[in-house]
Amino acid sequence: MSKKYSRYQTPSLLKARKRLGEQVEFINYQMDAKYQGIGINKTYCVKTYGCQGNLADSEKISGLLEQMGYTVVLDEAKADVVLFNTCAIRENAENRIFGELGRFVKYKKNNPSMIIGICGCMMQEENTIEMIRKKYPHVNLIFGTHNINKLPEYLYEISIKNEDLIEVFSIEGDIYEDLPVKRDHPYKAWVNIMYGCDEFCTYCIVPYTRGKERSRHPEDILNEVDGLIKAGYKEVTLLGQNVNAYGKDFVDRQYSFANLLSDLQKMPIERVRYTTSHPRDLDDETIEVMGKGGNIMPHLHLPVQSGNNNILKRMNRKYTREEYLTKIEKLKKAVPGISLTTDIIVAFPGETVEEFKDTVSLVEAVKFEGAFTFIYSPREGTPAATYPNPLTEEQKHDRLNQLNETINQYYLEGNLRFENQIVKVLVEGKSKNNDNMYSGYSEHNKLVNFEGSDDLIGQIVNVKVIKAYSWHLLGELVK
Ligand code: SAH
Ligand code: SF4
Ligand code: F3S
Repeated sequence: MSKKYSRYQTPSLLKARKRLGEQVEFINYQMDAKYQGIGINKTYCVKTYGCQGNLADSEKISGLLEQMGYTVVLDEAKADVVLFNTCAIRENAENRIFGELGRFVKYKKNNPSMIIGICGCMMQEENTIEMIRKKYPHVNLIFGTHNINKLPEYLYEISIKNEDLIEVFSIEGDIYEDLPVKRDHPYKAWVNIMYGCDEFCTYCIVPYTRGKERSRHPEDILNEVDGLIKAGYKEVTLLGQNVNAYGKDFVDRQYSFANLLSDLQKMPIERVRYTTSHPRDLDDETIEVMGKGGNIMPHLHLPVQSGNNNILKRMNRKYTREEYLTKIEKLKKAVPGISLTTDIIVAFPGETVEEFKDTVSLVEAVKFEGAFTFIYSPREGTPAATYPNPLTEEQKHDRLNQLNETINQYYLEGNLRFENQIVKVLVEGKSKNNDNMYSGYSEHNKLVNFEGSDDLIGQIVNVKVIKAYSWHLLGELVK
């Protein structure tokens, strides 16, 4: 290692895997005065990849940078600080990021004082750090998912010592409250309710990159939502890798996800959504609260991953196809017309044609109205990465295509049921392709386009659906 680092701590997957039952610490963040102001007259840019958890983290990263005095810049080539908030979920997600990092070699040449930082889930992997050190020496700062709060300290140190810095912790994790947040959206907000994941699905890297399941205190969540209501927010999406496990880690109280949902149902926030649910932990109490409706939106993303019991077992999902279908039935009964979406992995190591067909038939049985479908991608350090996978690339892609064809017909079917109906739309802004058109999402989470005007942005309006397409609904404003 020729380069000098002022700190050098790298991750350990072995340590990250352990769950020793460490006490979660709740820490109220306050920025040291000496970091405030060091970003004045300087600009930043945050590039975010991956899930909503990362989007929410990036809002905190931006919040910290703004509190330090930095201002956001759209032209990434001109930024004084560029941060890549990365995702490790699949190999292609990682490759995309490496490609982007490569582009910054020339930006850094033009602007040698640019600080390039990289954080997020990829940094929690052992081999990534090695690779970045070797192939991307223009990166100055590496930190992980557990130490976003230390960003001001890192930038301060880099600017004083002019040395690079790597610090990634493989720990169970704590909870930081009161981090400054710069939200991307003025009407819809992400609200973390818990961090980490203890499920250890055999294909998944997240439990290693995000630490153990730890829940925020309900009073902190409810206070945050209260603040959002006062600031004019209309919609909150509760975030966690497995929100149905919310509260199971509390040692001082009994308070579940259903309790939280029920408390939020009584608050004057117009829309509540949540993601992601784990089918095993989705309980009757939660379904009952959803059944009461109100501000709890009639949409649920419930990743099934596979429709075959043997594959589900080998994935360590801890539910069967039958149990999943029973929960779907209960949901459909409790919330008539609920829109259901899912995640599915094809070509899990050893998946046979028959096993794959079970997934297709489950899709046909549930009629998901949307799905993220993926080809299995081996993640180093996870159990499934060691399972033999004799399928060819062509076979894997064939399965993905076949599954997508099946699902696509239900997209349209799910949208057609709204033709001639009036739906409530939270107007987000002008439609991307047409200046007279405005767009937003309905309660069932359908994208709706209609002719409108700027004053409607941020409001919930009634729209009559004229025509349903596979990917959106076309409607007319009802005055
Ligand atoms: N916590 C959520 C999902 C997190 S990751 C849940 O359990 O539902 C989002 C999706 O990525 C997963 O639902 C899964 O379908 C997919 N995924 C995760 N690891 C993967 C891998 N190694 N290869 C392919 N897809 C993967
Ligand atoms: Fe990954 Fe499974 Fe946790 Fe979801 S529940 S984040 S798929 S380990
Ligand atoms: Fe990716 Fe990490 Fe989210 S791996 S999907 S950014 S939790």
